[in-house]
Amino acid sequence: MKYTAAAFTGVALLVGCASIDDGQRHFPTADEAIATSWKTTDPAWRQRLVQDDTQKLCSQVRDRPDKATAERIEKMNQTMKVVYPEGGKLVGDWKRGEAIAQSGYGLRVGDTTPNRAIGGNCYACHQLQAKELSYGTLGPSLLGYGKLRGRSDAIVKYTYDKIWNAQAFSACSNMPRFGHNGILTPAQIADLVALLVDPASPVNQ
Ligand code: HEC
Repeated sequence: MKYTAAAFTGVALLVGCASIDDGQRHFPTADEAIATSWKTTDPAWRQRLVQDDTQKLCSQVRDRPDKATAERIEKMNQTMKVVYPEGGKLVGDWKRGEAIAQSGYGLRVGDTTPNRAIGGNCYACHQLQAKELSYGTLGPSLLGYGKLRGRSDAIVKYTYDKIWNAQAFSACSNMPRFGHNGILTPAQIADLVALLVDPASPVNQ
């Protein structure tokens, strides 16, 4: 997920140039496309271009792992550390969770407001309430999540762990690994769990 948009831009630019290159079409590798399209020298940003083992494996199979590779990736991610909120309370405040789900703010190059809370952008991929018409469909609808599954300890823990690191459950998922990659804090993830399981939340109306 990390460099999909940049890779597409790079590929489009290079293919565009190559097509006037009189038959000498050169289709760049993903690495070439990224290297030529992301010009920033900010070390923190450039570090995001470095793939970890999970991303490398998923790139190699173009996000379509066979069963053995999928199991390997999921096992690898299951052994990675999950940090829980202080006090161990995995269900926070659904109202705060709703604000986090709606916000796509964060992780921008040259950000001048570093203290502004990063969002989860969950609506970009998931339906989360019946009234909201503008949501993405890359991920499954989560409407009625708590109504359908309840809020047992097992469901709450699964939901927290899933948001923390989606690939521990579904290899090469398009869903960002929000906790694992330090995008959201444990408290924010607990608020999102509340959004999904709390009977009063718009998800369960
Ligand atoms: C870029 C797209 C994308 C974003 C953003 C995203 N997800 Fe997902 N999510 C997916 C996809 C795809 C799946 C299905 C594959 C999988 O399970 O990983 C999924 C699965 C899930 C599941 C598991 C559903 C089930 O049936 O068990 C939960 C829970 C979830 N997402 C919650 C969230 C929350 C909360 C956020 C915001 C913090 C979020 N997602 C942001 C793409 C996304």
